[in-house]
Amino acid sequence: MGRLDGKVVFITGVARGQGRSHAVRMAEEGADIIGIDICANIEPLPYDLATEQDLDDTRVMIEAAGGKSFLRKADVRDRAGVAEAVADGVAHFGRLDAVVANAGVISVAATALDIPADEWKVVTDVCYGGVVNTVRAAVPHIRAGGRGGSVILVSSVGGVAPIPTTAHYTAAKHAVVGLMRNLAVELGPESIRVNTVNPSTVDSPMVQNPWAWKVFMPHLENPTAEDAAKPDGPHQPLNALPTPFIDPVDVSNAVLFLASDEARFITGVALPVDAGWLLKK
Ligand SMILES: NC(=O)c1ccc[n+]([C@@H]2O[C@H](COP(=O)([O-])OP(=O)(O)OC[C@H]3O[C@@H](n4cnc5c(N)ncnc54)[C@H](O)[C@@H]3O)[C@@H](O)[C@H]2O)c1
Repeated sequence: MGRLDGKVVFITGVARGQGRSHAVRMAEEGADIIGIDICANIEPLPYDLATEQDLDDTRVMIEAAGGKSFLRKADVRDRAGVAEAVADGVAHFGRLDAVVANAGVISVAATALDIPADEWKVVTDVCYGGVVNTVRAAVPHIRAGGRGGSVILVSSVGGVAPIPTTAHYTAAKHAVVGLMRNLAVELGPESIRVNTVNPSTVDSPMVQNPWAWKVFMPHLENPTAEDAAKPDGPHQPLNALPTPFIDPVDVSNAVLFLASDEARFITGVALPVDAGWLLKK
């Protein structure tokens, strides 16, 4: 028996990283997956986003985990495109039980007054506007099932505390927590629960790339993943537990719990998956 047997979940940013991990973990527990990813880079972001090959690989991994998938290339900033993808996926599988608004991006490390306007726009459009588009596209289908459901918004520790030099990202992730709280009240009478997950640094391509290594370790000429993982590197000292990173599957296990009936009376919660990062703020 799987913890999500018979359920259908919509996930954004599904091609790699945490989104892929959520899809595979939920498929292992019996869910079928509707998913989208931009599968292209966005200017002026300083690192590569997922590719169509990544999306194909996720499809194979979902099926290997025992799930069925309906995956498509789409941009969460495109409200009509998101709505169409969800509607087509629901027509394919016949229902929707949960949504994981996971797609997100980050950019330049600079103080708030120095972040270029185009970077403010891209980061807030994806990390906040994209979540709004995702919720507005998905919730009507959950509601139409009349069985209740679960809305999981991916925020960050930056959704409840400042992460200096990322004011655009921090503001967008705080907005996601505010949105979650309103939705939890508005959708509660229909037994649709709404929560955020708030990870600290996760071992995913968002932070494992040459640009991010240089941001975290400017004192090194050619910093690497190995440098980032050192106990005295940039990440581990920020956590209370002795680890530099949260693994994507650790976030997936929290998302899985929130999507399952085990969490049937949990709503309105901003759940840290952070190895104690927030304790040390
Ligand atoms: N990695 C971390 O340290 C960390 C920590 C806390 C929260 N988060 C959040 O977790 C979520 C997942 O990030 P990740 O760590 O897996 O990073 P990632 O870069 O590996 O994955 C993000 C995915 O979203 C996709 N995407 C980006 N913009 C999109 C758009 N406009 N439309 C559709 N898809 C888009 C990318 O192609 C990629 O597949 C994000 O919301 C991120 O902000 C990440």
